Amino acid sequence: MAEMKVNPYDVEGKIDYDRLIKEFGIKKINQKLLKRIKNITGEVHPYLRRGIFFAHRDLEKLLDAYDKGEKFFLYTGCGPSGPVHLGHYSIWSFVKWLQDKFDVELWFQFTDDEKFLYKNKSYEEIQEWMHENMLDVIALGFNPRKTHFLIDTKHAGIMYPEAIKVAKKITFSTIKSSFGFTDSNNIGSIFYTSMQTVPIFLPNVLNNKSEYCLIPLAVDQDPHFRISRDVVQKLGHKKPVILHAKFMSPLTGISGKSSSSDSGKAILMTDNSKTVKNKINKHAFSGGQETVEEHRAKGGNVDVDVACQWLKYFEHDDEKLAEIYDKYSKGELLSGEVKKILIEKINKILSEHQKRRKSAEKQLDKFIYKN
Ligand code: TRP
Repeated sequence: MAEMKVNPYDVEGKIDYDRLIKEFGIKKINQKLLKRIKNITGEVHPYLRRGIFFAHRDLEKLLDAYDKGEKFFLYTGCGPSGPVHLGHYSIWSFVKWLQDKFDVELWFQFTDDEKFLYKNKSYEEIQEWMHENMLDVIALGFNPRKTHFLIDTKHAGIMYPEAIKVAKKITFSTIKSSFGFTDSNNIGSIFYTSMQTVPIFLPNVLNNKSEYCLIPLAVDQDPHFRISRDVVQKLGHKKPVILHAKFMSPLTGISGKSSSSDSGKAILMTDNSKTVKNKINKHAFSGGQETVEEHRAKGGNVDVDVACQWLKYFEHDDEKLAEIYDKYSKGELLSGEVKKILIEKINKILSEHQKRRKSAEKQLDKFIYKN
């Protein structure tokens, strides 16, 4: 199996999250933190209970400040180079939960510059994907009065003056070692991390405040912020607080991450119910046995069965999930039956999403930040 690799531009192999915690210098979310969150929100989101959001930087500090009556804002982003899939959707649905429970502003960055610089796609193509991706983000149901889209190329006028302040404090050698770059990387890609740093403090600059910034992200994005945490502090801003999510596995098996570049790996927000059914039945890696008789006798392996693993994201009822796992392990449920449960769950989510997406275009203007 491929060696584990986790950085913003490459995720490979079977991911060992305990090893990542050590290597990245991040902290595991423990029971004490979950209790503190529950005291504020009244419930613990299943993704926290189930360790899908598994690690953090400085979450205690943010909660201390919140307890004292200080507000914070949320910041996350989307790199628009292809269709949105269930991996993105899951993270963003958790961001929405945070926005609703804590009643805070959300700054959503669209990094069209990043994807233009890194992908073999034209500027126009990236703009088209960005438009499509924005409709998906809106369809998630974020509060338009409290959600602000920042588009790197469109908001360059307010972002660039801050980005150069960041860039001046980062050396080429730091970028090379953090992202595995060489002398043949294009010079835009070397600068890019400065743009991803700006939303950490831009809202404070614009509104003359000094609130904490909380960034929920998939753990591959952490290297950007490991660099920027020190830099923003040097510039007189608070270090961002981070919540790290595990990757949703590809349908084909539990290594690497779900990605829209391969249809066997992901389910897209625009897939219809038939496509969902076919993809899951055809590609979802099974932890079951070769024959029904053998499965009934020995049971299946929930840890490698992708349908079982994906249900952690979509079956929010703990008892129901435990029952499925129990029956599958004992061989009472067959792989095809678990797949059927998953297909129904996902199709329900997608049909609601697709309905909301139809009216998203009308709302777009309300979401784009106006200064
Ligand atoms: N670089 C991210 C991507 O490729 C997009 C992004 C920008 C982001 N800012 C972020 C993701 C903050 C998480 C948090 O998808």
